[in-house]
Amino acid sequence: MADHAILAGKRVLLVIAGGIAAYKSLELIRRLRERGVTVRAVLTEAGARFVTPLSVQALTEDTVYRDLWSLTDESEMGHIRLSREADLLVVAPATANLLARMAAGMADDLAATVLLATDKPVLVAPAMNVRMWQHAATQANMALLESRGVRRIGPNDGVMACNEYGPGRMAEPMEIVEAIAGVFAAESHRPLAGRRAIVTSGPTHEPIDPVRYIANRSSGKQGHAIAAALAALGAEVTLVSGPTRLPDPAGCRVAHIETAREMLAACEAALPADIAVCAAAVADWRVDGAGDRKLKKDGGAPPALALTENPDILATLSRPGERRPALVVGFAAETGDVLAYATAKRARKGCDWIVANDVSPGTGTFGGSDNTVHLIRADGVESWPTMPKDAVATRLAEAVAEYFTGK
Ligand code: C5P
Repeated sequence: MADHAILAGKRVLLVIAGGIAAYKSLELIRRLRERGVTVRAVLTEAGARFVTPLSVQALTEDTVYRDLWSLTDESEMGHIRLSREADLLVVAPATANLLARMAAGMADDLAATVLLATDKPVLVAPAMNVRMWQHAATQANMALLESRGVRRIGPNDGVMACNEYGPGRMAEPMEIVEAIAGVFAAESHRPLAGRRAIVTSGPTHEPIDPVRYIANRSSGKQGHAIAAALAALGAEVTLVSGPTRLPDPAGCRVAHIETAREMLAACEAALPADIAVCAAAVADWRVDGAGDRKLKKDGGAPPALALTENPDILATLSRPGERRPALVVGFAAETGDVLAYATAKRARKGCDWIVANDVSPGTGTFGGSDNTVHLIRADGVESWPTMPKDAVATRLAEAVAEYFTGK
């Protein structure tokens, strides 16, 4: 649970959109104000059908902002000032319609305009009918918004006002208060501010000819999560990613590449850096002389593919020299004798830390959401419990921060 003391003196701009859950936003205003938060509210036209401007005004003890075109609203408080004078924007309830407008970058009313004009953190509390929430359009909009750094709380499972059951209920006011405290806590915890990091992620594709390639099963989930976790701690992150199905993580610069050689070039272009984390599953070999003509089946013997070794990005970045990042972290995916192989790999590659994991069939690591890893450093091995890849990433980013802050 985040410490609520962090809330005192903070300014929240609360956008209330048109959903039945809007009545809970009145309670949210009270719970925030009890904790010393200044709440200013924007009510959409549909929102005003569910709660009255008078209630919102009485609870915030401020004007309720409603109309993009109202001269009074614009002269007293332009939409830019509304977001400038807030520390956080909270959308509760966030309806399917408002999420769609946010995802599309629309600015067709005051709520959408402040959300587009802001550079402050945004937290949404979705609330809608279960089928609207589960619709591919809403899911895609939400994923896009999250990839751009929008935070989300809920929706919760339960019986809804429309008598259906499932995810769609807006999070309870105290859960939203908790999430808001969490956002402020994360914002103030930036031990890697001023540090530059390079993270490699995903597979590489090595062409055989213009239409075929050699690849592997890496999903990029772990590497992308590490990039996001380092960025959340304030690092300036360049993610060098092979082809994956993942959205670009929030707050990172992303270089999309295909081959190992392109990955190395992108990493070298991102130097100097303080931190390098090589989580990509780089192809060890590429096809020698992959040409620009498609190989043809001509009834004769199948073509023999001659392979040549790819550059080792981790070993290259680990090489002593002026441009070597202070902390280089590699991964070792093994299928048995994990610790022995990984310890040997740390020495062979010349990196500082190795994150070792067992990728034997049945562990579900490749493409799965969980990971069981061991962190191998000069002074020994730390074995972590099985946890989601996001949690592994957060713990690794915290270990990196401790390395630099000496705590
Ligand atoms: O040699 P192996 O593939 O087992 O080593 C794994 C580690 O080395 C990972 O951190 C991976 O990202 C990195 N690696 C690399 N370039 C290569 C091969 C592996 O950076 N060509």
